[in-house]
Parts: sequence; structure tokens; C-alpha cells
Amino acid sequence: MMKGLKKWRLFSLLAVMMVFLSGCGEDYISALKPSGQVGKEQFNLLLLATGIMTLVIVVVSVIYLLAFLKFRRSKVGENVIPKQVEGSHTLEVIWTVIPIILLLILSVPVVTATYKFADVAAMDEVDEAGNKTALTVNVTAKLYWWEFEYPNQGIVTAQELVVPTGQKVYFNLKAADVKHSFWIPAIGGKMDTNVENLNKFYLVFDKESADLKDGVFYGKCAELCGPSHALMDFKVKTVSPEAFDAWVANMKATEGQTASKDSTDLGEATFANSCLACHAVSGVGGTGGVGPNLTTFGDRNRVAGFLEHNEENLKAWIENPGEFKPGNLMMNPEGTAPVYGDLTDEEIQALATYIMGLSVEK
Ligand code: CUA
Repeated sequence: MMKGLKKWRLFSLLAVMMVFLSGCGEDYISALKPSGQVGKEQFNLLLLATGIMTLVIVVVSVIYLLAFLKFRRSKVGENVIPKQVEGSHTLEVIWTVIPIILLLILSVPVVTATYKFADVAAMDEVDEAGNKTALTVNVTAKLYWWEFEYPNQGIVTAQELVVPTGQKVYFNLKAADVKHSFWIPAIGGKMDTNVENLNKFYLVFDKESADLKDGVFYGKCAELCGPSHALMDFKVKTVSPEAFDAWVANMKATEGQTASKDSTDLGEATFANSCLACHAVSGVGGTGGVGPNLTTFGDRNRVAGFLEHNEENLKAWIENPGEFKPGNLMMNPEGTAPVYGDLTDEEIQALATYIMGLSVEK
């Protein structure tokens, strides 16, 4: 009976693991299916390290098994003491040199790649007119959302990073409050965002995200940062260079866009009264917003970074953001009510319609 139970337990554990692990390998999120030069090279290093470790395990296991079988008491007899080896020069050299060689095979490519991926010298290169030639994005991580500024284009967005395919995109990474970590698993390894210093690296995006399941790559915060750390997601839309230029132009065209308290549209007026102090609706302008820039909200893939993108979820979010992301700044410090106070159902509906209509792609 006990034995049967144990077997059943093992079986269900394996079954659960299979379901769990089958989630690996989705090309919009998996580091095992890299979609860019950096991710691919890092994946190859992973394979190299795994290969070396497997080789060591196999060789040690085989030697162990051979010794185990060869020197069985039943085989060699009761009173046999095998040959005692001590101070063997040859053996000592062998088991010192082999690990050194293995470590060299592993460390040389790893160190080389580490320096290569941290080479951001091209960030400062300029063309004849003095314009920066590389695409740079300034990433600021905040509790619990992401701000993306394109300093050379003079635009800023949030929660959904838009980048062109087929070129190096350089990142300046920092945090506004506590330590977070910027990670797009399918594109490359994570990098911490710190409050006290700037981290820099580059990534390359090979594939246009429109073909992916949700039309975007998934990005995560990879550093425990507070109660809503697990929900601090962002998305990455990768588009052709032409489509990227068009997007930048559309973003620039939103210069000066704002919401008016006198608007006849209840949604816009409510936004102006309750939201505008923290959320900008123009893609041109400063960073450092208290809340995410909402210029492209209607184009986004998620509400609050993780909820399905529809008006119902947006309304629920506006009504009680603390229920979805505990500790977020839309709630008062006690976490009991939104900072903008209670809105009527009519206002929330109008507000949701207005925010969903904010778009540079439609
Ligand atoms: Cu930010 Cu975890």
C-alpha cells in the first residue's frame, strides 16, 4: 500500500512538472528560444556549460561504477587489499590539468562575451550632422511600472517598449525608488536597475513580434522589489525599422497633447481633473512622471502590465487599483482608497473609454 502511494506521488509530481515545464520554450518569453544575437550567444554559453558539466558527471559516474564493480568483496575475496596508490605524480597532474582545461574552455568565451555585451561605446557615436547614430532607450524602473525614454528622438512612453528589428538597441538602465531588474527573457539576460548608478548594455531583436502569440515579447522585473513584484511586467513590440520610424513620427505628433477640464467629453474632463497630474497624454516631453505616460494606452497589449487589455479590466483597475497591484502609488499610503477619490460609475465608464482611445497607431 505504502509503495503504491509513493509511486503515485512520484507519478503526479512528474506529471505536474511536465505541465509546468511545457510552458518553457514559448518563443515570446523563453530564454531557451532566443530571438536575438545576445540571447542566442548566451544560450550557446549555457549549452557549453551544460555540456562540460554533463561530461564531468558521466566520466566520474563511470569511474565510480567501474571501481564499484571491480573491487566487490564477493569477486576479489575477503582479505584482498587493492594496490595502494600514494603520491602518484602522473595522477595528480592529470586531475589538476583536466579541470584547468575545462575551466579555460568555459571561462574564455564567457569572459569575452561579458565584455562584448557591455560594449556600449557606439552609444556616443554621431554622424556628420552631430546626431547620435545608435538607438538608445533610457529605462527607468518604478514601483511597479516601466518608463521608456528615447532621448535622441525626444519621446517617452511606458509599459510597452517599441523597438526596431535587426539593429543594436542600447539601454541606460536605472531605478527611481528601489532596486529592480530589466529582463526580456527571449532577447537576452537580465540587468539590474539601480538607484545609485546607471547600468548599460545592448540587445538585438531579430523577429517582428506581430507573429507571436500575443503580438509582443514579454518583459519582467527580475528582482524582488515589493508586494507587486510578480506583476511588474512590461511588453516589447518589435517592428520593422520603417514601422519604427513611423511610430516615432506619430509619437512626435502628439506634442502638446493634453486633456481639458472644460471638455464636453466627460472622460477627458474627468481625466483632466483626476489623472492628468500624474499621467501625461503626450509622447513628447519629460520623464519622471509619477505615473506611466498614457499616450499609447489604446495600442497596448495589457492593462497595468498584466491584465487583459479591455475596457472592463480598465474600469475595474480604475475603481480599485490596490486590489490588483498592492502597494502601487495610485492608492493612498494606507492603501484604503485611490488618491483621486471615489468616481461615479458614469465617470469611470467615460474615463475608460477616453483612455482606451489614446493611441498613436489607430
Ligand atoms: Cu520591480 Cu520586482
